[in-house]
Formats: sequence, structure tokens, C-alpha cells
Amino acid sequence: MLGVLLVGCGPSELEYRPNVLHAASLTRESADRDPAEIAEQAAALTENWFGSLDQPRWPSGLAEEVRMESVLRCAGPVGRLADKVERGVFRKHCVTCHGLSGDGLGPVSMLLEPYPRDFRRGTFKFKSSPVGKKPSREDLHRTLVEGIPGTAMPSFRALEESEEFAQDIEDLVEYVQFLAMRGEVERRAIRLNLQEGIPLKTSEPRMQEILSEVVGKWNSAPSDALSEPEPPAWFTTAPSDEYRHLEWIQKGKSHFESELTACVKCHGKTGSGDGASQDYDEWTKDWTILAGIDPKHPTEWKEMKPYGALRPVLSKPRNFHWGSFHGGKSPKEIFKRIVLGIEGTPMPPVARAENSNPGLTDQELWELVYYVMHLEDRT
Ligand code: HEC
Ligand code: HEC
Repeated sequence: MLGVLLVGCGPSELEYRPNVLHAASLTRESADRDPAEIAEQAAALTENWFGSLDQPRWPSGLAEEVRMESVLRCAGPVGRLADKVERGVFRKHCVTCHGLSGDGLGPVSMLLEPYPRDFRRGTFKFKSSPVGKKPSREDLHRTLVEGIPGTAMPSFRALEESEEFAQDIEDLVEYVQFLAMRGEVERRAIRLNLQEGIPLKTSEPRMQEILSEVVGKWNSAPSDALSEPEPPAWFTTAPSDEYRHLEWIQKGKSHFESELTACVKCHGKTGSGDGASQDYDEWTKDWTILAGIDPKHPTEWKEMKPYGALRPVLSKPRNFHWGSFHGGKSPKEIFKRIVLGIEGTPMPPVARAENSNPGLTDQELWELVYYVMHLEDRT
């Protein structure tokens, strides 16, 4: 099902894996449409703009939103170019999990939880921008350097710290964006065909619009970012006495348990991640619930297995007693997760008291952060 991965074995003629799962989730009701055929056509169309796995290129007529020299270094087989410049950086470090196409279907993917990310949806979790907006370069850079603790995603700090490979992280940040843009355009091509009935052969003018739209969203990412939150002085100075500490915990707890924030609904009364609400992430809903498939019923979802679907796994709310924060454990990062939510997952942004809207003030948000951080079991 996963295809053969030919890393470093002789001349490579590897191709992007067409997004058959997306096509299949849209053709369930129409027996006369072959999802593989539509996905292949969409992949061919996408190749016209973004090139192939070994020879990526930037769509002509568009301002360059990623540095193509970085993309070229990350793409292709592992090795060196004539001028000794490294290439194949993504294949060297990332494909075992994320797959050559960035579809999250690398050879070990099915063994991991959460699954490695499928970049083709263009959705990212740990960022400074609000839901619906792209991560900034700094956000992706942070993820690569720090990794995602509590998941299989490793830290690549060693690259940045080495003299020889110092450039790799910057290059990978560009390549992740490139794969995400390419994957989103491919998905949109599939939808154009299946939902608007436009044959892919004649879709050029609409696809040009879609292309500018997808790429343009990345372009506007940084300006939407939340300005770096600074914890108030009382937060960073150790509580002068036990009484003060308990006071903050008590306040944070009351926000956590309030109906306004609904944290308890998912994270449970004690913050162990055992609330009543159980749900899937958007990558899973995409080919299950949205396609009319019940992810809880193996007979239903297994129908999609031949197209590359992995077993649906619930998106688990964090258990705060473990003290593991996937987006980083500094107060600033936790503040961002609570204020912005975690895109692609059930975790919503908190209601903030702004323009007379009911919600938490910044002071109350920091109390909440303080509480969540202090739930870690310290034995
Ligand atoms: C051993 C497996 C593994 C390897 C190797 C790996 N990743 Fe990941 N990566 C993951 C997993 C698992 C996730 C999903 C974590 C989650 O959803 O919380 C992930 C998520 C990501 C994300 C999404 C972050 C976000 O904010 O949503 C990016 C970007 C990423 N990886 C880039 C890379 C790059 C680039 C490489 C190679 C330099 C790489 N990864 C190597 C397992 C891996
Ligand atoms: C509808 C369900 C839901 C609600 C409501 C909810 N969360 Fe979450 N929360 C989640 C899920 C699911 C995750 C794990 C997401 C992931 O990493 O894939 C999560 C993760 C987190 C994290 C971990 C961030 C990290 O970096 O690991 C924090 C902190 C958090 N939630 C705090 C809160 C707080 C505080 C509230 C109330 C204001 C809240 N959540 C409300 C579902 C929810």
C-alpha cells in the first residue's frame, strides 16, 4: 500500500504520490468516477507548475514566495551537486516519516501517534498566527529546531549548531512551505474537477486563480502573527510565599473550570485529558466525516485503506499532569496555544475580553497558563 521507497538506490525516478485519498473521499457517491485517474491528472497538472520531485520549479508568472535555491537543495536524491552543494536534505532527514511527497505516509508513519504530518492540507498546529492563517517562517524554524516533544517529531538543533549543515534548517523551512503549497494546489485541482465539474484539461484559467490564492495566503502570514506575549512580572518572579502561589493557582483553576472557557469539556475536571468531548483532527475528518464515513466503524473506514488511509485515531486533549507541551513549555508558547487554539485539532482559541466581548483578560489568561503549567506531577 505504501509503495516502495528507493532512498539512495541508484538513479531516481521517483514521483509525487498522487492524492488518491482526497479524490476517493469526493467520489464515493459516483461509481462512474475513478479516483486514481482523477488524482493522477491533478498530479500531472500540478507538475506543470511545481515541477517534479527531483526537478522542482516555481510556477511561472508568480512572484517567488519561497527561495528556490533552498528548495532545490532539499529536493532530489541525497548527494552533492557539481559545485559540492548538498542536495536531498529532505530525503536525508524527513522522508521516513513525512514521505517523499510530504503526505505523511513515510514507511514508519503507521507506527506513530500522532501520525507524521501531511503537509498537503497546508494546515499547521504550532504557530503564532490565528486559525486559518499560515505559520510564519519563524514558527516553522522553531518547530524544526525544538522538534515536537511528546511526539516522534525530532529536534534538528544539531544541524543548526554544526558548521557544515547550518544552512539546512533555513532550507527545510522553505521546502516545507513549497510542499504545502504544491499539495494544496493539487487538492484544489481535484476539487475543481469533482465539485465544479471543470475538466482538468481545460481548467488552466481557474487554476491560475487558485494558484495565486494558495500562494498568496503564505505571503500574508507574518503580518497576522500575535505579537510575542510577555508574561507579567508576577509570573516570572518566583512566588514570594506559598500563599501567593496558591492564590494564582486558585484563580487559574476557576478560569479552567468556568463555562466560558469550556477547558474541562475536553481536558477533564482535573486536567488529565479525559473530558467528555472526543473528536478527530481535520486530517482524519477530511476523508471520514466529510465523506460520510464513520471513523469509529472499521467496516466503513477500511474502504479507504487502499487509497492510503491510516487507521483513524482520536485527537487526544493533552494530559497536563505529564508536563509535556508539544508546542514548547515556555509560558509564552502555552499562552499562544490557549489564545490561538491549535489549528487542525479540536482545541479552540479561548474567548478573549475585547471590545466588550465576554472573555478572559490578559491577566486572567496568564493565571490560566500558570495553573496549567503547575498541574505537572512533580514527585
Ligand atoms: C521520526 C519521525 C519524524 C521525522 C524524521 C520528522 N518528523 Fe516532522 N513530524 C513528525 C510527527 C509525528 C509530526 C506530527 C506532530 C503533531 O501532529 O503533533 C510532525 C510534524 C511536523 C511539522 C508540523 C508542525 C506544526 O506546527 O504543525 C513540520 C513542519 C515537520 N514535522 C517538519 C519536519 C521536517 C522538515 C523533517 C526533516 C528535517 C521532519 N519533520 C522529520 C514526525 C517526524
Ligand atoms: C474541544 C476540545 C478542547 C477544548 C474545549 C480545549 N482543548 Fe486544549 N487541547 C485539545 C486537544 C485535542 C489538544 C491536543 C492538540 C494536539 O496537539 O494535537 C489540546 C491541547 C492543549 C494544550 C497543549 C499545548 C501544547 O503545546 O502541547 C494546552 C495548554 C491546552 N490544550 C489548554 C487548554 C485550555 C486552557 C483550554 C480552555 C481555555 C482548552 N485547552 C480547551 C482540546 C481542547
